[in-house]
Amino acid sequence: MTTDSILNRSYSLEKEQIPPTVVEQIDDSERAELNKKIKSLLKQQNAVMVAHYYTEPDLQTLADETGGYVSDSLDMARFGYESDAETLIVCGVKFMGETAKILSPKKRILMPDLAANCSLDLGCPADEFSAFCDAHPDHIVVVYANTSAAVKARADWMVTSGSAVDVIKHLAAEGKKIIWAPDKYLGDYVQKETGADMLIWQGACIVHEEFKGQELETLRAHHPDAKVLVHPESPASVIEQADLVSSTTGIINAVVEMKAKEFIIATDKGIFHKIKEAAPDKILIEAPTAGKSATCISCAHCPWMAMNSLRKLARVLETGENEIFVDANIVQKAKGSIQRLLDFTKDQKKLAGDA
Ligand code: 13P
Ligand code: SF4
Repeated sequence: MTTDSILNRSYSLEKEQIPPTVVEQIDDSERAELNKKIKSLLKQQNAVMVAHYYTEPDLQTLADETGGYVSDSLDMARFGYESDAETLIVCGVKFMGETAKILSPKKRILMPDLAANCSLDLGCPADEFSAFCDAHPDHIVVVYANTSAAVKARADWMVTSGSAVDVIKHLAAEGKKIIWAPDKYLGDYVQKETGADMLIWQGACIVHEEFKGQELETLRAHHPDAKVLVHPESPASVIEQADLVSSTTGIINAVVEMKAKEFIIATDKGIFHKIKEAAPDKILIEAPTAGKSATCISCAHCPWMAMNSLRKLARVLETGENEIFVDANIVQKAKGSIQRLLDFTKDQKKLAGDA
């Protein structure tokens, strides 16, 4: 395959490759029993939960109650790295478990369901990506966190939604040409924001890709005072209407800090749990994922994030199943791209503090 054909082909998943979003249903007595069991096993095994905002409320609550952490992908990685626990239970998707293992190779990393993947990761096969990079040796390779360990190992930098614009701005200021993968919408957004010279891989998040620009316009007309908060994995027609484009943490902070009462939110609806906790008096409206004869597939809830559940979490703690392993050679190479981002964000925080 030529590199031109790679840039011209879509790496979005086909409908048949997307599992249905199935949320585990349990009653109050089972929930109480599982919570008790999991709390005791976490203590016994010196284990800590690290959960993403898109996972089920039961998991987020338990993580908070047991000294674990609920956050975006960047902060999950940082927390896991800095934690003293011997075992990290990563409630999220595969790339988050792998990132935890790469940063903490001596820790045992378990995940409730090893099938929990991500359409961006699946849409960026390491061999094709590596061949593409080889064909452009004069480009710096920047990959989004939502990629396999092997893709990160081929990259110079890993970035997250909360850091992409700052990193690319920094590289563009040094006159670097950039290969960006895998999210085309985030790549286009970053390119527009920074004016950087970028070759953009054509992958997409199946959840954010479903947000609809036209239907959002209609919704805004009914809620003229609502602020629109958008995750940058969304299409340009949605991003263009945003009052704020930001990572998941940025969206939560904005609801808390902005004076507005009403918010239209274009990201996975799992985030509403944390926002309601942090800002109970605000009105939250889901951005539309369907309309005008279009129906949605994920309907704003990631099928892979939904695979994490209390029952599965209890099972992995009991059995030790679902441990994440990453080839030592890949760990070595991928660590460089991740560490570069952690150091960069640390320096930025320091600069902001000094200013
Ligand atoms: P954040 O880094 O903003 O948490 O995003 C991760 C993700 O998978 C979004 O779909
Ligand atoms: Fe991947 Fe999208 Fe799910 Fe995030 S929401 S894990 S980008 S498929």
